[in-house]
Amino acid sequence: MPVIEEVRRASFERVGMHSHIKGLGLDENGRAKFKADGMVGQVKAREAAGIAVELIRKGKLAGKGILLVGPTGSGKTAIAIGIARELGEDVPFVQIAGSEIYSAEVKKTEFLREALRRAIGVRISEERKVYEGEVKEVEINKARHPFNPYVEVPESVVITLRTKDDEKTVRAGREIAYQLMEMGIEKGDVIQIDAETGRISKIGTTKEEEGLFFKRRVELPGGPVLKIKEFTYTVTLHDLDVANARGNILGLLFSTGAEISDEIRQRVDETVKKWIEEGRATLVPGVLFIDECHMLDIEAFSFLARAMEGELAPILILATNRGRTKIRGTEIESPHGIPIDMLDRLLIINTEPYKKDEVREIVKIRAREEGIDVAEEAVEYLAELGERTSLRYAVQLLAPASVLARGGEVKLEHVRKAEEYFSDVSRSMQTVEKLEGMLK
Ligand SMILES: Nc1ncnc2c1ncn2[C@@H]1O[C@H](COP(=O)(O)OP(=O)(O)OP(=O)(O)O)[C@@H](O)[C@H]1O
Ligand SMILES: [Mg+2]
Repeated sequence: MPVIEEVRRASFERVGMHSHIKGLGLDENGRAKFKADGMVGQVKAREAAGIAVELIRKGKLAGKGILLVGPTGSGKTAIAIGIARELGEDVPFVQIAGSEIYSAEVKKTEFLREALRRAIGVRISEERKVYEGEVKEVEINKARHPFNPYVEVPESVVITLRTKDDEKTVRAGREIAYQLMEMGIEKGDVIQIDAETGRISKIGTTKEEEGLFFKRRVELPGGPVLKIKEFTYTVTLHDLDVANARGNILGLLFSTGAEISDEIRQRVDETVKKWIEEGRATLVPGVLFIDECHMLDIEAFSFLARAMEGELAPILILATNRGRTKIRGTEIESPHGIPIDMLDRLLIINTEPYKKDEVREIVKIRAREEGIDVAEEAVEYLAELGERTSLRYAVQLLAPASVLARGGEVKLEHVRKAEEYFSDVSRSMQTVEKLEGMLK
């Protein structure tokens, strides 16, 4: 159990819903395959997104953005995540919802500034002194929690690392002990400990056991345990802000809202620019995805527009299901509730409601992803239902139907029952409106 858990402000709860999305599912000519990478149909929008990915890679979308527009449940978020997957693992992708800027604790612009800085990566190469080897022995000493006698916390650690040619035992303090526990490091794991910062990375394991799918099997390293190595890693501007505010990299592990001032951010920017000039670092602009962007107000939009002009700016992807509507905080109507000067910078991609064939395939993918067995006729019914109401509704009925089937195969009757219990949005609205009518 971690003693301190980092509270992330950006929202991640929707990620589970999109866990099947592995990319945009395009072939080498940028054509969308009907079903690939967990993506189904929505061909034009996916191909357009593929072009956007190429523009991003070539740096030609700098200072601009993408706007995904389409009805609810038409795959806007799925496509934004597909774009992120295509961009590669070390490209930061930050997802927030427009409504999240109205938090009671943080100023709107402060929230956005942090999100923007989380979305910009800095790839750093440097030589570092590390302890590297297979864990031969590890002994974590625990002490009672200062405030709660029932909880034990790590206090120090003695660890023996070995290579083919060397062996060393080191003693370290709480931070390293804590990391070792958090990462579940045990005998046989090959790890690196940064001699200066104490940051630990897990390289793999030398164990030959069955069932270790999630661990990479590696050879026992050679050479001395303490050595100098060249490293490349990507951190975000926000990571650097936090590290600076805390005075060291370990601050990252325990960051629960460190105070980050403008001076710190300026200092970080200057340092990063210096690193880039010296060839020690490269910039990796990532993606800031703002869902329900019609919830942003005029102030937020002008802040974002200005930020996009800066030297250090991520790619902005906005999504909305609104047509013409008022820009929040004003009486002005505008397409999608977005100010014109912002609209001018955006490439617009439209997503369309799904057809039955597409819904059927997506339902099947989601069922597999959630480990639910669904009978053919139930899938068919969900496909029809999804076309008639929304894909979202059809997909959402899977879980309750599975409960009604008591974990067994979901049959047509279970889906019908689930449909009776849970409304889709338009049915729910009709119910309320009918009731209101009766009361008048
Ligand atoms: N083309 C697709 N292929 C595979 N899965 C998809 C596709 N489109 C959407 N999905 C999945 O269907 C569900 C609903 O789609 P999603 O949330 O992306 O819609 P949305 O347009 O963002 O809706 P909203 O406007 O309500 O935010 C998600 O689980 C998503 O991953
Ligand atoms: Mg969405």
